[in-house]
Amino acid sequence: VSLLLISASLDAESRSRALLHHAAATLQSDAAPHEVLDLRDLPLPLCDGGPAYQHPNVAQARARVAAADGILAATPIYNYDANAALKNLIELTGQAWENKVVGFLCAAGGNSSYMSIMALANSLMLDFRCVIVPRFVYATGATFTDDRLTDPKILDRTAHCARATARLAAAVKGLGL
Ligand SMILES: Cc1cc2nc3c(=O)[nH]c(=O)nc-3n(C[C@H](O)[C@H](O)[C@H](O)COP(=O)(O)O)c2cc1C
Repeated sequence: VSLLLISASLDAESRSRALLHHAAATLQSDAAPHEVLDLRDLPLPLCDGGPAYQHPNVAQARARVAAADGILAATPIYNYDANAALKNLIELTGQAWENKVVGFLCAAGGNSSYMSIMALANSLMLDFRCVIVPRFVYATGATFTDDRLTDPKILDRTAHCARATARLAAAVKGLGL
């Protein structure tokens, strides 16, 4: 199976990117094929429901999403939701997400936004029949020391989430939905 790891934060010092790197290192040590798409490296236009779909970077993003069996998306929590960059990517590449297995790694400021990712998860389920990995990571600022990921529990949960996404993607691929 092919996994796409998406880093959605546009912050150079991102904590969700640190989660993603730990997930990538886990998959690397398992020799599980995966690719990383960092939205900082692929500037995308804002979705306008029209000409933006023709942008070459949108075509590239669409192709990378379409080629994946499973997607692990690392996102900041902004205003009780995934950040606008991730939502914009999904708006721009919608159909490419059909039937994908999707897991989430979330970085938030505090504990109060715990279930915020559900709005996006629900839309992926209902719009594109995505299978959402029933295990996600929610890491607050307390998990990090100087933007380094140090909490052993979160490290463990992140590794688990990466492996669960890979296994579920393989199982769902086998179903031929
Ligand atoms: C515009 C903005 C909105 C935010 N909204 C929330 C929020 O609703 N809940 C929360 O817990 N943290 C919120 N935060 C804090 C971020 O989730 C936190 O800084 C996180 O580390 C960002 O992820 P990143 O480091 O990967 O960019 C917000 C931060 C910004 C800049």
